[in-house]
Amino acid sequence: MNFDEIIDRRGTHSDKWDMMQTKYGISPQDGIAMWVADMDFRPPACVTKAIEGMARHGIYGYYGDDRGYRAAIQWWMAERHGWQIEPEWIFTTHGLVNGTAMCVDTYTEPGDAVVLFTPVYHAFARVINAAGREVRECPLVNHGGRYEMDFAAYDAQMTGNERMLILCSPHNPGGRVWSHAELQGVADFARRHDLILVSDEIHHDLVMPGHRHIPMAHIEGTSDRLVMMTATTKTFNIAGAHLGNVIIADDALRARFATRMAAMGLSPNSFGLSMAEAAYSPEGAAWVDALCAYLDGTRTIFDAGMNAIPGVKSMPLEATYLAWVDFSGTGMEAAEFTRRVEQEARICVNHGPTFGTGGETFLRFNIATPRARVAEAVERLQAAFADLQ
Ligand SMILES: Cc1ncc(COP(=O)(O)O)c(C=O)c1O
Repeated sequence: MNFDEIIDRRGTHSDKWDMMQTKYGISPQDGIAMWVADMDFRPPACVTKAIEGMARHGIYGYYGDDRGYRAAIQWWMAERHGWQIEPEWIFTTHGLVNGTAMCVDTYTEPGDAVVLFTPVYHAFARVINAAGREVRECPLVNHGGRYEMDFAAYDAQMTGNERMLILCSPHNPGGRVWSHAELQGVADFARRHDLILVSDEIHHDLVMPGHRHIPMAHIEGTSDRLVMMTATTKTFNIAGAHLGNVIIADDALRARFATRMAAMGLSPNSFGLSMAEAAYSPEGAAWVDALCAYLDGTRTIFDAGMNAIPGVKSMPLEATYLAWVDFSGTGMEAAEFTRRVEQEARICVNHGPTFGTGGETFLRFNIATPRARVAEAVERLQAAFADLQ
């Protein structure tokens, strides 16, 4: 594994690199893509080998006998997260945005509200709104550059039509790894308001050294209302495979989900299953450890460079490769700091307001790219804000 290798992704139908011109008006020739949440790294060799094996065999028929695939998921959750699951608890959705949509569809009705702790991954609100449900934004508290929850305030916000809560754990954006006490707070809040608790833990493997992710399934009082969502895609950079694990221990909740999956005619593709089975292995685990160490080093470089710009503050990431940078101290309007980042530094980033309330003064930078490119981005950004020095 060589995370420093620069791999040209242009012309490969990469959303991140091949849609820059269309979406931002920034040429991929000299622009830097730091928006879409995938990485510019190859997955571990075991994943590539699985695909090569399929290509060599050359017959791409219907997939059957998924016992090995389910066993690999079961092994990974036990080995990496100390979480014991049963193979039959696992559903494979068309990714976790689809998993979220399936949960909204299965467990809520039009007009119901879904609670989100904002700012949070933008697709949640998109899916909830598109399904004719309401988003109940519960803003996180930015306490000295670290997000925290305020359950007393959230209790006061509930109107009675809330049916579900979607937690992002670890949190995107901002990278918080929620503590046991915070997770217990979420579980208690869900119980107080009788909410189905969907825990999107897609970033659970991308945790920085010194931090430990706790699966929501380990929190007391969740078993009868919990839907867990994890995936190989973010961890191993195989998002194009479009699959996610929706894991439901409760029999009644699982039966309802199974019925909706059947009604939608959803089943996964063989490439995704083969890649996931290969990834959830000792070789995949060693690769993830190396990746997290690399990302930890990169974020140190990125944060130091960004925090050297007066008025700019990058949140210290406990997990994820998605740096969340606050420009409020510059005193600039969002249009101005965004213009400087995009037009002067020629860097494509995600805009804070798309993540909901609390994101107004932020931009999100994807740092999962070779360090040389991150260093180049930091240099350009320092130049774009040089007048503040
Ligand atoms: C919290 C969260 N959930 C889901 C996804 C996307 O999931 P998928 O590609 O499986 O639809 C992302 C991607 O960034 C994410 O951050």
